[in-house]
Amino acid sequence: MAAGTLETQRRDGPRALRPDEWEQLDHVVGTVFRPSMFQDYPQLFNEVNRENLRVVAEGDAVVCHVGFIQRPASLQGCRIDVCAIGAVATLDEHRGKGYASLAFQDACDTAAAAGVDVMLISGGRGLYTRVGCRQVGDDLDFSFSREELARLASVRPPGGGDFTVAQVGAERIPELAALYATEPVRFLRRREDWEMALACGVVMNTPSHFWGVSVGETLVAYLIVHDPSKVRRRSADEPASVRVVEFGGVRASVIAALPRLIAHYDVERLAIHTQGSDPVLGRVLRAATGAAGTPSGASGTVRIINFVQLMERCRPLLAERMGHAATAGLTFHADAEPGSQEGSFSIRRGDAKVRIEDLASLAVFLFGSHRAIEAPDSEPSGDTVLLEDLRRALPLPSLWYGLSYV
Ligand SMILES: CC(C)(COP(=O)(O)OP(=O)(O)OC[C@H]1O[C@@H](n2cnc3c(N)ncnc32)[C@H](O)[C@@H]1OP(=O)(O)O)[C@@H](O)C(=O)NCCC(=O)NCCS
Repeated sequence: MAAGTLETQRRDGPRALRPDEWEQLDHVVGTVFRPSMFQDYPQLFNEVNRENLRVVAEGDAVVCHVGFIQRPASLQGCRIDVCAIGAVATLDEHRGKGYASLAFQDACDTAAAAGVDVMLISGGRGLYTRVGCRQVGDDLDFSFSREELARLASVRPPGGGDFTVAQVGAERIPELAALYATEPVRFLRRREDWEMALACGVVMNTPSHFWGVSVGETLVAYLIVHDPSKVRRRSADEPASVRVVEFGGVRASVIAALPRLIAHYDVERLAIHTQGSDPVLGRVLRAATGAAGTPSGASGTVRIINFVQLMERCRPLLAERMGHAATAGLTFHADAEPGSQEGSFSIRRGDAKVRIEDLASLAVFLFGSHRAIEAPDSEPSGDTVLLEDLRRALPLPSLWYGLSYV
C-alpha cells in the first residue's frame, strides 16, 4: 500500500478540537511557537471557542491546528462578521502532507457556515496566498525619530490645558471600551476580550503596556504599545523602538501622547500605523512632523468568505459614497458556495456587469491595496460605467487587529 494511502487512512479531521485534547493542542502550539501560547492567546484557546479550533489528528495524536475567533465588526456603521485566524501550526515531522491546507479550508467552511463575511489571517505565506488571501488596505506606517516627535510637543487634547499620560489597568475597561466604541472601523468586542488582554498583557504577539490620556479624571484617549524591552530585534544595531499597536479616542489626544511615550521609554524611535479610512491622523502626522510615512497594508492578509452577504451588508456604505440611485439596482453574485476557494464573482446593474476573476482579485478590488503597481492579480472587467461607479465607492475600510489579534 502506498504511504499516501496509509496516511489518509490514519488521518482524523480536519475537525473541531475535542474536550479531552487540550493537552495535545498545547503540545502542538507550544512546540511549534512557544510554551506560553495558551496564556498569550486566551481569546483563542478558550472552551467557549473550542469549535473554532480546527485540528488534524493522526492516530490518537493532534498534529496540526488552525484556530480562529469570530466577532462582529463595524465598517463605518455597516455591521459585518469577521473571523481572525491564528496559531497555525503543524508538528515538524508531519509537515508537507497538506494538513495545514486542509485545516485552513475547513476553517473557511466552518466560518462560512457560522455567517462570517471576511477572514483576517495573521500571516502572508504561500499556505494562504495560494488560496486567495491577499494583503489589503492603503495605510501608512510611521517610524518617528525623537526630533520629529518634538514637533508635536505643543499638541494638546481638546480644551488645550493640562493632561496626563499614565498606565491604566482593568479597572478602566468600561472607559477603554467606550473609547474604542467611538472608532468607525472596529470589532464589536466582548467585554471578556478586554479582560483577557489586560490580564495576559500580550497584544499582537508581544507583551504590551496600556496607556491612558486623561484630562482631569476623564480618559480622552488610550494607546497600547509593545514593551520595547520585550520586542525581538533583528540585530543589535537596530535602534530600540516603541510600537503603538492600538489606540482609540480623539486624535489630538493620541498625538499629544506620542512625545511623552518616547520620552518615557527613552528609545530612538516610535512606530505607529494609521489606517487609510482615518481621514485625519495620517495626514496630520505628516504635516506636523514632516515624516512621509511608508505606504503599507493592514496587518496580515484577508480572504473573502461570503461576497454576496458582505456586499449586501455594506450597501449603505456604497450608497453613502456613490448615491442611492447608483446603488439601489446593484446585485451581487458568486459562482461558488461561501467559504469556497473556487469561482468568480460579478456585480450587476440592469444589463451592465462587472466580473472579478477570483478570490485574490476580489480581496484587492474590495479592500484596496497600497501595492497597486505590482499587483499580480487580474483587474475586474466589464461595463466601464459600472466599474467607475464601483471604484468611487471602494475601497471598503480595512480592520486593524489591535488586541483582537490571534
Ligand atoms: C506553516 C505550516 C503550518 C504548514 O503546515 P503543513 O501541514 O506542512 O502545510 P501543508 O502541507 O498544507 O502545506 C505547506 C507547505 O507545502 C508546500 N506546498 C503545499 N502545496 C503547495 C503547492 N500547491 N505549491 C507549492 N508548494 C506547496 C509549501 O511549501 C507550503 O508551505 P508555504 O506556506 O511555505 O507555502 C508549518 O510549516 C508550521 O507549523 N510552520 C511553523 C509555524 C508557522 O509559521 N505558522 C504559520 C504562521 S503564519
